[in-house]
Amino acid sequence: MGLKTAVLGAAGGIGQPLALLLKQNPAITELALFDVVPVVKGVPADIGHVDTPAVTTGYVKDEDGLKGALTGADLVVIPAGVPRKPGMTRDDLFNINAGIVRDLAQGIADFCPKAFVLIISNPVNSTVPIAAEVLKAAGVFDPKRVFGVTTLDVVRASTMSAQAIGKPNSAPEYTIPVVGGHSGVTILPLLSQAQPALPKSLFDDEAKLKELVKRIQFGGDEVVQAKAGAGSATLSMAYAGYKFAAQLISAAFEGKTGVVAPSYVYVKGNADVTKAIGQDLAFFSVPVELGPNGVEKVHPLGDLTAFEKELLEACLGELPGSISKGESFIQGSK
Ligand code: NAI
Repeated sequence: MGLKTAVLGAAGGIGQPLALLLKQNPAITELALFDVVPVVKGVPADIGHVDTPAVTTGYVKDEDGLKGALTGADLVVIPAGVPRKPGMTRDDLFNINAGIVRDLAQGIADFCPKAFVLIISNPVNSTVPIAAEVLKAAGVFDPKRVFGVTTLDVVRASTMSAQAIGKPNSAPEYTIPVVGGHSGVTILPLLSQAQPALPKSLFDDEAKLKELVKRIQFGGDEVVQAKAGAGSATLSMAYAGYKFAAQLISAAFEGKTGVVAPSYVYVKGNADVTKAIGQDLAFFSVPVELGPNGVEKVHPLGDLTAFEKELLEACLGELPGSISKGESFIQGSK
């Protein structure tokens, strides 16, 4: 088995380290790197010297660049677009990134309609609906194959929880479902469902619990502020994007079973999700069991504590609008 993986926006802050990590995956035999800036030709020249199987090629956005990058791709990862500067929300990026994701999704419809699509470009809450609408209009939307990458929230939840309980080295031990969306209050960390359980003392200390949740929800701001105008999370995002891509590759192509990861996917008509959140939303991040078809099964959201139900309400105050904004961006232009 040899997989072709395309990275769109591969010259960027996320794209370059993500390409390097993907280069190390032995299942990938072709790594196609696409961007609008010519330096994307230099990235494969550089990482192409790494002694792993993937043959690495660079494509600039000219008349055939996107076609060359996408034709035959099994997996497409999209970190293309502008990142936040201090004071900006992910929604502020909509005006630029919406059009970028629309055009790249059209390329996927045209050149690799069966590929798994992993969307990193923000605002994920809206860009995933945009991609879905483009694929639907082309008659190739498969809800099991389109993912909004929310893994950075999952990674932050483990790291920050471990820090909050005074065991900063224990992050890898904790698996914490993070559901909802990928922006501020739409990010809903279900700390009560951590495996193994977080200490009861955390849940008894309301102020500490709230502070931890807020830190997970707004963790991206820490990075934006620390980089002081020079971008948002890139290295931890590359790690998180690769983590999800590797999980999908192992489950979809290598026969690994029991791979469950939260992801922002199409859930319209899913009775269990509707019951759990009280609305039939088109998209919600849920714990997804991955397999040969992509989303094999959506795992239950489980019982929420009273505090988590309040967080869900706040999430639902924002998320449906972000979904509609993405959908209308395409539907309105028809
Ligand atoms: P960056 O500006 O460093 O890189 C973006 C790259 O996209 C640039 O190389 C640019 O030339 C390229 N690009 C722009 N238009 C393009 C097009 N039409 N086709 C192909 N490539 C194009 O930005 P960075 O830091 O890598 O962030 C990328 C995106 O990822 C941003 O939207 C950011 O908000 C988002 N992000 C998402 C996270 C998540 O958890 N899902 C976390 C962190 C960032």
